[in-house]
Amino acid sequence: MIMVPIKANNRNAPDKVPSGKPGQQRRHAIRGWGSMRRGGYRRPRDLHNMGRPLPTALAMLPRLPHLPADLALVSRPFQVDDTQLDALLDSGLALPPSLAHAVLKRKVEFLSGRDCARAALAQAGHAGPFELPIGDDRAPCWPTGWVGSISHSKGCAAAIVAQATAYRGIGLDLERLIPPERAAPLREQIGHAGEWQLGETLGLAPGLWFTLVFSLKEALFKALYPQVGRYFGFEDATLHAFAPGQGIARLRLNADLAPGLPAGTEVAAQAAWNAEHVLSLCLAPRDAHA
Ligand SMILES: CC(C)(COP(=O)(O)OP(=O)(O)OC[C@H]1O[C@@H](n2cnc3c(N)ncnc32)[C@H](O)[C@@H]1OP(=O)(O)O)[C@@H](O)C(=O)NCCC(=O)NCCS
Repeated sequence: MIMVPIKANNRNAPDKVPSGKPGQQRRHAIRGWGSMRRGGYRRPRDLHNMGRPLPTALAMLPRLPHLPADLALVSRPFQVDDTQLDALLDSGLALPPSLAHAVLKRKVEFLSGRDCARAALAQAGHAGPFELPIGDDRAPCWPTGWVGSISHSKGCAAAIVAQATAYRGIGLDLERLIPPERAAPLREQIGHAGEWQLGETLGLAPGLWFTLVFSLKEALFKALYPQVGRYFGFEDATLHAFAPGQGIARLRLNADLAPGLPAGTEVAAQAAWNAEHVLSLCLAPRDAHA
């Protein structure tokens, strides 16, 4: 994937998006997000014939159509129960002290993500002992010379890694499809009118499109975090182009996020989906910008 800085410091390019209070867009501070999650998931009927859905039975995780060969992606299903937790701990993984008193679900998803990361690193040729501490803002501290990303969504964890010589950052995001009735009250916080209009123009179902916008932006956040080094919100990027047949997306930064990431920077990403999940990937290649 390419990331091309265009019109550095171009203040005309960004579309203005509704912005909340600083930090408001942090995932757990999104108004209504908790109730959306607590409400449980119901498969939206309008997704059955959308885009290129993959049969869930064939692959729990949608297959990314344009995965570069220098990336190792591993995904694994998990169940939230004591047997799963014991199996993960028996495999040599350990919970950090900060999660010692976490609920069972958090422990299992954390260790499942680490399990995928360990397998992905091994697959990519990382020889050293596996260690992946929690860093600033919860970002994993990848071994020297490596970059990666972890995501988990109900019952499925995934991790992707690559050598840091090729990438500054990688962002992977796995989301359960968000039903349209739950997406509607969140739209203003996640995107702006132009982004929702794009989904309508493309003829994508509202729930699927909302999940794609949300997931692609979270993947972007994770990919750029190593350079930006702080939280930035959903209003700081615009998903302005998407090719449903290929799953290729283009996002544009709306703010100067870091040296080398001025407003107007174009970032490429990709997404795939099946009847239950959206999987997004955003890469920040080293040779893309200064
Ligand atoms: C951090 C965030 C992106 C995580 O996404 P999520 O959908 O809640 O959860 P996921 O399962 O996909 O990913 C969680 C994993 O992301 C990784 N992660 C967390 N914070 C991270 C960060 N700052 N940078 C990179 N990776 C991070 C961790 O590995 C975490 O799993 P772990 O805690 O078990 O190790 C999300 O909670 C958030 O705060 N989003 C708001 C910021 C944002 O997306 N802005 C949009 C910019 S356009």
